[in-house]
Amino acid sequence: MQSLIVDGGNRLVGETRVGGAKNSVLPILASTVLTDGESVLHNCPVISDVYSAERILTHLGCSSSLEENTAIVKSSVNRYDIPEKLMCEMRSSIIFLGALLGKTGRCTLSLPGGCELGARPIDIHINSLKKMGAVVTEKFGTLDFSAPKGLCGSKLILPFPSVGATENIILAACLANGETQIKNAAREPEIADLADFLNKCGAKITGAGEGTVIINGVSSLKGSEHTIMPDRIVAATYMSAAASTGGEIRLTGICRNDLDSVVPVFEEMGCYVYSYGDSMFIKANKLHSVKKILTMPYPAFPTDAQAVVMAALACAEGTSVFVENIFENRYQHVPALTKMGADIKVEGKVAIVEGVKSLSGANVYATDLRGGAALVVAALGAEGRTVIGNIHHIDRGYENIEKSFSLLGGKISRK
Ligand code: UD1
Repeated sequence: MQSLIVDGGNRLVGETRVGGAKNSVLPILASTVLTDGESVLHNCPVISDVYSAERILTHLGCSSSLEENTAIVKSSVNRYDIPEKLMCEMRSSIIFLGALLGKTGRCTLSLPGGCELGARPIDIHINSLKKMGAVVTEKFGTLDFSAPKGLCGSKLILPFPSVGATENIILAACLANGETQIKNAAREPEIADLADFLNKCGAKITGAGEGTVIINGVSSLKGSEHTIMPDRIVAATYMSAAASTGGEIRLTGICRNDLDSVVPVFEEMGCYVYSYGDSMFIKANKLHSVKKILTMPYPAFPTDAQAVVMAALACAEGTSVFVENIFENRYQHVPALTKMGADIKVEGKVAIVEGVKSLSGANVYATDLRGGAALVVAALGAEGRTVIGNIHHIDRGYENIEKSFSLLGGKISRK
């Protein structure tokens, strides 16, 4: 088991490039199952979740390689089952469901793994696919999906704009008969990126990234070439680390519009933020508390940025309040931050952060991906040495995190 060793208290200064989005590349890799031929994906982050997706693709009969941030997938699916071991590696493995069912008319899998952020049911995925003609049976925790008469277009109104369910329906609908309409669809930009890729492959999808998505089924899809959109959560993580260390950094390769709900939070904290083209400059001053941060579906403040921003606010002057509305168990980083000296009280969905003068290094453990990144943000700004264990959680979504922060002047290494 590896750890990150962080000697805190060094201002981050300099420039770094934000890579491709995990939450975009994973559904796009799954979508290659629907295609015939080769797809080339640029700006692909080298993270363990991408390797997990590649293992599923290989198991299904496809070939996949990842070199210098370019993934090449040759799709030739010859089976429809995903073994439990592969499903357990990450929650996004559920995205293979819509693609496999759409391509082969069958899919057998167990419930997915990934961050333990609460119950994370998949009822919206299952009910939507059933409305499209899928038949589902369950035996000893294994779900078997089939579409004996093929999938058909359907009018679906989601009870909640689930990101994964919206993606699964889009994937299932691409090769279905007729038109599928998704109302109350998730509007995350990663969904628009998935649709962009699929449309390049020959799909007919309109409205992705908006509340109503329409997919007209086509008979086949070919492979295509695509550049993965920038990771807005990694960008928010760098911004948080700049804030926690009193630093000033320039981020390149970002999409400023995707950060519309995040930038005002940093401005309220007292940071100076200036964007131009695909770059953003952030300079931290003395940090102030933020009145209220509510996590909600896009375009509101993202749940994935809650933990890293909380780590920055741990040392802001005054009281900050968070309300976590997406996941019921997303404050797992709080005990570790408290161990480092933060004053945070959690009651249900609400976390109240009383800013303290400084944090101190401690031995802590990552419990989930973004919570783990929050510990890195806190440790970079803390006094003394922090040792972070269970960093496999962090490696799921951050490419060589110690190198990125070292290049900005952070003292961080892996052991
Ligand atoms: C995706 C992101 C994750 C992000 C989340 C919310 C990927 C790979 N992961 O996860 O980083 O934190 O969106 O922005 O893109 N729900 C149900 N039933 C369902 C589906 C979801 O009750 O069938 C609930 C979940 O338990 C959760 C909420 O809806 O409380 C949001 O889930 P969802 O939007 O589906 O998130 P994911 O796709 O899992």
